[in-house]
Amino acid sequence: MAVAVRGGYDKSKWGLPRRWSYATITPSTRPATVSVLGREYPTDEMTNVSPTILSKLPLRLHTQPAHPLSTLRALIESHFPSYAHISSLSPLVTPYQNFDLLSFPADHPGRSVTDSYYVNKDLMLRTHTSAHEVDVFEKGESKWLLTADVYRRDEIDGSHYPVFHQTEGARIVSADPNGMKEIEDDSAMLQAHLQRSNIIIEDVPHLSSTNPCQPAHDPKHTELIAKNLKLSLNSLILALFGDHVGATPQNPLRVRWIEATFPWTTPSFEVEVFFRGKWLEILGCGVIYQPTLDNANVRNKLGWAFGLGLERIAMILYSIPDIRLFWSQDARFLTQFKQAEITTFRPYSKYPACFKDVSFWLPENMDIHENDFCDLVRDVTGDIVEDVKMTDSFTHPKTSRKSICYRINYRSMDRSLTNDETNTLHAQVTSGLRDRFGVEIR
Ligand code: DAH
Repeated sequence: MAVAVRGGYDKSKWGLPRRWSYATITPSTRPATVSVLGREYPTDEMTNVSPTILSKLPLRLHTQPAHPLSTLRALIESHFPSYAHISSLSPLVTPYQNFDLLSFPADHPGRSVTDSYYVNKDLMLRTHTSAHEVDVFEKGESKWLLTADVYRRDEIDGSHYPVFHQTEGARIVSADPNGMKEIEDDSAMLQAHLQRSNIIIEDVPHLSSTNPCQPAHDPKHTELIAKNLKLSLNSLILALFGDHVGATPQNPLRVRWIEATFPWTTPSFEVEVFFRGKWLEILGCGVIYQPTLDNANVRNKLGWAFGLGLERIAMILYSIPDIRLFWSQDARFLTQFKQAEITTFRPYSKYPACFKDVSFWLPENMDIHENDFCDLVRDVTGDIVEDVKMTDSFTHPKTSRKSICYRINYRSMDRSLTNDETNTLHAQVTSGLRDRFGVEIR
């Protein structure tokens, strides 16, 4: 199972029972087709893409000149100059590409309609850039980076947004002495560079009983690949963070490797960076599981892959405090940045927060997933809501009916909201709750 990277499957969601989704309870209001990037697709009982989400597809922030996410992509690409750089793939993939080709188990929670966006049962919005791994290998690329927008249903707060960006990277070599020499030479170069820099790395063994070698692999080869993976990423992290955090011998950059589990890599790792007193998880990676390469018709090769979440890194590098800002069309945001330059974001004033509660009784035998509630809020309010918290939930002892209360914080990033405006929005959320889920407002 995949472990969380912002951009990973949230550990807290594991094992949650599947619950009702918007899609499953409103078949009568479902349109026959949905238009995605200019094409019509038939809908079915899995359809749950909303207009708000679909409006993000054409934006492709990672390719917009001067946008922080685009500069970060270019910076990562410049660190791997000999790799193929891919950034134009459509977000529409099949569940087969997104999950099955990567050996996700049939009951993985990431597949459920409460976690992922489906156009219909055969087509979804990719939840990670790994969805393209097999295709890229199949095209014959052996060293490549792929940057793209990815989509996951999520709660609302300052660091979660249902669309974000990832860079996937991978390298494969021949499983023979030539391939191993290529990797060892590269590792020697990287090692020399890292030794001269102000970075402290907490490592874990390349292999262990809990993070084992694959049956198809020679453990010596796996060790060399894992070592090269770690050196390549430590060097990237140093290039991204080293200058910025002003690492010195007294105050070195600290990086920590942790064992992890992903269905398409073994051994697998996560990497955390120490920043402003906290360890931040920034990527997942590992030695590619051989069946993944078999699925791409790649024979007699082995290698590594990683997936990096861009927003979290950009928020650190540019001091951007709220993930919604990446989507801002406000000139006070956009004109602050230049392509290929990392500069500190100058916040314009923070506008007042306005908290409003909504309490309701659920219909009998029904639960509403928090992601369904948050999608409703996003559909009604766009990016005006800063966060949503469940503040109360109880079951009436006599009637067994369940009551829930959410607190919504209405705060625009760009302007002050009037009372009338928040009241109207809140009334729309309330009536949307009634119409979409059949709840009884208290
Ligand atoms: N796709 C993973 C995620 O979104 C990140 C990842 C982990 C990518 C391991 C990889 C990998 O290529 O090998 O959580």
